[in-house]
Amino acid sequence: MSTAEALAMSPASFVAEIDGLGEKTAKKLIWNARDALGMTDFTAAAEINENVETITTGSQGLDHILGGGVQTGKLTEVFGPFKSGKTNLAHTIAVTIQLPKSMGGLDSSVAYVDTENTFSKEKIKRIATRFGLDPLKVLSRLYHSRIYSSDHQSQMIQKTENLCKTRNVRLIIVDSLMALMRNEYVGIGMLARRQQVLNNMIHGLSRIAETYNCAVLLTNQVATKMMGMFAADDAIGGNIVAHGCHFRVMFKTKGFSSNNSLKRRGVIVDAPDLPPEECEFYITSAGIADTDQVELHVGNAKIGVLDIETLYEETGIGAGDDGDDGDSDDVPSTASLTSVKGIGKGTAEHFAKQGIKSIENLLAAQPEDLASKIPGVSSKKIRDMQQHARTLISS
Ligand SMILES: Nc1ncnc2c1ncn2[C@@H]1O[C@H](COP(=O)(O)OP(=O)(O)OP(=O)(O)O)[C@@H](O)[C@H]1O
Ligand SMILES: [Mg+2]
Repeated sequence: MSTAEALAMSPASFVAEIDGLGEKTAKKLIWNARDALGMTDFTAAAEINENVETITTGSQGLDHILGGGVQTGKLTEVFGPFKSGKTNLAHTIAVTIQLPKSMGGLDSSVAYVDTENTFSKEKIKRIATRFGLDPLKVLSRLYHSRIYSSDHQSQMIQKTENLCKTRNVRLIIVDSLMALMRNEYVGIGMLARRQQVLNNMIHGLSRIAETYNCAVLLTNQVATKMMGMFAADDAIGGNIVAHGCHFRVMFKTKGFSSNNSLKRRGVIVDAPDLPPEECEFYITSAGIADTDQVELHVGNAKIGVLDIETLYEETGIGAGDDGDDGDSDDVPSTASLTSVKGIGKGTAEHFAKQGIKSIENLLAAQPEDLASKIPGVSSKKIRDMQQHARTLISS
């Protein structure tokens, strides 16, 4: 710890852990630091410096319901069922924070605490290209940590403070907050201990957010709870997470088939000064967006609205699965398939992995079955492709 602000905002027990410091000395140091910083005076409300900045989520709808985007100085929790888009949002905002302020970013770096091993460099590169940023520069300003236990998670959360101080980190992402704890602390007997660990993490993050005017995005899973006669999804982690987070957004897949559609809904569940609004957004290969098509920028200039498959081809960025290195040597030739309207190189590679390697294979496929295995392709789209394939064969 090296700044007076950090000292002033730390609990005495935390400072007393430093070798040779008793609780009494720690408290004295903290009180002195607060005096030195003017934190022991009351301030006329007119003079309160709010200095809130926002980071765009990639979707104007989501930004709107969040009051402009993810806010600095505060904790934002996004919870929802699996496949609802939480990790996609985490990836998108890890890029948009790096945009200049005029484009919805903070021109700053990001710390990414990855507890589920779902971080993908390829996805980051695609999102960077979408926003006209240099993918390699974006990766070099993203500090990633793969987490293996909840204790490791606590340790790395504490370490993010150093990144805020030295590397201009203004956003900390934890994806996901509870995944490891949920497995390590099983049963009612472990609950008190689990909540204590969680409490320390949330308070630690809150203090860092406030001290460095840094945004914090936490993703969380849900469990189905019975509320009287009704079953409803609720975030896990109980009151400590719910009360510790300033903004709480729920992502829903309900009403859309999460296999056939990448449309999602976001709902503000709790916010200090925002109405309980909701919005719709899409998951695309290049992150969260308002539609299933994304705009392509070169530098600041928008050069058009392109289908994601065209984006792959235009930028030469690999369209493999997440985590793929973009090398498609192992994928058989799909040249004939790509002559079908709606099938770009990316989709053709997805098709090939499902055994659809030729126009004949495509015509023999069951649209519903195939759509359920390919992200972003609906059964209707497959029927359209089959229709076009038939005209190609007959022409
Ligand atoms: N490259 C891609 N193009 C289009 N859609 C994709 C792509 N990658 C993932 N998806 C879709 O995104 C959804 C998964 O989103 P995400 O990983 O953000 O969910 P999550 O809320 O983090 O889920 P979990 O609770 O399992 O971590 C899936 O429906 C998947 O089909
Ligand atoms: Mg996830």
